[in-house]
Amino acid sequence: MALVTSKEMFAKALTSDYAVGAFNVNNMEIIQGIADAAKIENAPLILQVSAGARKYAKPAYLIKLVEAAIEDSGLDIVLHLDHGEDYDICKKCVDDGFTSVMIDGSKYAFEENIALTRQVVEYAHEKGAVVEAELGRLAGVEDNINVDSRSASFTDPDEAAEFVERTGVDSLAIAIGTSHGAYKFKGDPYLDFERLQKIRGLIPDTPLVLHGASTVLPEFVELCNKYGGDIPGAQGVPEEMIRTAAKHGVCKVNIDTDLRLAMTAEIRRILFEQPSEFDPRKYLGPGRDAIQSMVRHKIKNVLGASNQR
Ligand code: G3H
Ligand code: 13P
Ligand code: ZN
Repeated sequence: MALVTSKEMFAKALTSDYAVGAFNVNNMEIIQGIADAAKIENAPLILQVSAGARKYAKPAYLIKLVEAAIEDSGLDIVLHLDHGEDYDICKKCVDDGFTSVMIDGSKYAFEENIALTRQVVEYAHEKGAVVEAELGRLAGVEDNINVDSRSASFTDPDEAAEFVERTGVDSLAIAIGTSHGAYKFKGDPYLDFERLQKIRGLIPDTPLVLHGASTVLPEFVELCNKYGGDIPGAQGVPEEMIRTAAKHGVCKVNIDTDLRLAMTAEIRRILFEQPSEFDPRKYLGPGRDAIQSMVRHKIKNVLGASNQR
């Protein structure tokens, strides 16, 4: 049991049909719920921290909580920076003990993205950490663009091959139609699997990463709405599409929104049904349980990662 890099996890996932779940963490209950789920399912695990999470919980707390999860669960866990926006935050996280960082240069032009990623790779590799980069842009429905311009921002397979070759990056996040948050598609869900297969064919040894992979299960949206929420029109990536992606080179699947929905639905239910309750343990505890069952469901039924540790 230790903080590990994703090297071995990805090497195994690359030659199999499952993907490793990378779950966003922000506090103790979320970390406990996820780690317990991975332990029960005997699954590989990546815990990831966004810049927002660092700001909310402070890096020292999150790192210690992840170390506690390792000690308590006996699991090997990857501690990963999600969407690092510049060299400095990636360096800081590597120095703090993160075993993996994402440098997200997707908003830059190709050459700039390469230069920035290369710089992070050099530093991280020297310190024994691994690096994820992103090529192509994840457009959300809120960007209000049509299908053609949406796919114009998808990852170009030839560029992906050149990018990996020139940066030496360990894994690559690709854009094939997913997006962050609870509003992913206006019409029918669509992922460009042909493009995924082309990318996979050109860089068969590079683990691919799917961001924006929450499925936004209707029952959780309904629950949130039933107890006083209002999130109309939420739509995620259908579960079978995530399964298909896992079979075509996607080794890491990022999930945040589904955890938020599961935890919030349960907390809303409790406070709605027991309005006089004010002991935080009485709603955060069940919130933690809701995270655990959501993560177990993901690992088992969507990622196919049970017993792949
Ligand atoms: O990709 C973004 C993740 O869902 C993290 O979200 O920046 O609100 O922590 P956040
Ligand atoms: P979701 O919003 O679909 O959960 O995606 C999370 C993500 O990609 C984190 O990097
Ligand atoms: Zn993301």
